[in-house]
Amino acid sequence: MPPGNDDAAALSATLLAWYDRHARALPWRIGPAAREAGHLPDPYRVWLSEIMLQQTTVAAVISYFNAFTARWPTVEALAAAADAEVMEAWAGLGYYARARNLLKCARAVAQEHGGAFPDTEEALLKLPGIGPYTAAAIAAIAFDRPAAVLDGNVERVTARLRAIETPLPDAKPRLRAIAAELTPGARPGCHAQAMMDLGATICTPKAPACGICPWRDPCAARAAGIAPELPRKAPKKPKPVRRGVAFVALSDAGEVALEVRPEKGLLGGMPGLPGTEWTEAPPAAPETCAPCPADWRAAGEVRHVFTHFALILEVRTAALPPGTPLSRGAWRADAPGQAGNLPTVMKKALLLALSARR
Ligand code: ADE
Repeated sequence: MPPGNDDAAALSATLLAWYDRHARALPWRIGPAAREAGHLPDPYRVWLSEIMLQQTTVAAVISYFNAFTARWPTVEALAAAADAEVMEAWAGLGYYARARNLLKCARAVAQEHGGAFPDTEEALLKLPGIGPYTAAAIAAIAFDRPAAVLDGNVERVTARLRAIETPLPDAKPRLRAIAAELTPGARPGCHAQAMMDLGATICTPKAPACGICPWRDPCAARAAGIAPELPRKAPKKPKPVRRGVAFVALSDAGEVALEVRPEKGLLGGMPGLPGTEWTEAPPAAPETCAPCPADWRAAGEVRHVFTHFALILEVRTAALPPGTPLSRGAWRADAPGQAGNLPTVMKKALLLALSARR
């Protein structure tokens, strides 16, 4: 916030007073009262939560965050974990490049920074998986730096506060400037989290609760009656459709054939079902991608939307004697129990095959 900016100072003070009363209790957060009492956030927990929260909701992240921190309480512990264990623990959170970068980053912090996260945006940006948003969030929340944090919530709040009608993504630089102007020199970490909470609980996308908003009077979009319409968004292009076939080999001993997907590419390093490539043309001769010759039966198809395409995955299944040799993957015990270790699309395919067999 530039010195002498009374408007921004008043807005920030109102927001902080609201946060002091209404902050959400979150497992990675040091709330305003504890912060006031001198408790400091653990940068490892702040970093881990911010990586998990990229593209994922708070509700979905909480159980993963608690499981990760119980199993790997420090960055050194996470850095020492086996890749496959971490990938399996991440299964279901999506955007798996985040999990690979999470490990790379933990190892860089443990090995190159003596286990201590750097405390500036600039140094944080050099670590794997930390982009401008995450660097600003960690700098603000863990180290109380006056970094302007711009996520989807903050974009919505700032666009409405100043009634910015330019559609996203073109509006971003303007919204970033507004977020920077509002960021106070004192308590910037609480301010950043207050902006996120306001966006998540009051200034919500569809039906904002303007009547109980601490910024109801200064909000320009509310005055103009256009708050629910903002931020405007440029129309999205429809996603291309890709198709593939997944093979669910089930043994009479309750096992399933799984493989580890190649490091490079989608769901890289994650456990998965053997199958064809996913392509816009329907796959030719899919049987050649099966883990073994068998009487493959159609179980149906599952659909899943990725960032750059929508997938229609045909699922085929076969029951085999235990110990059948596999040309790819390996037998894993407890087929239904494996669902929890798989990325969502693979989980859907496995569950479909299991239900088709009953
Ligand atoms: N969304 C992204 N980061 C967050 C945080 N630290 N607290 C709440 N919601 C968030």
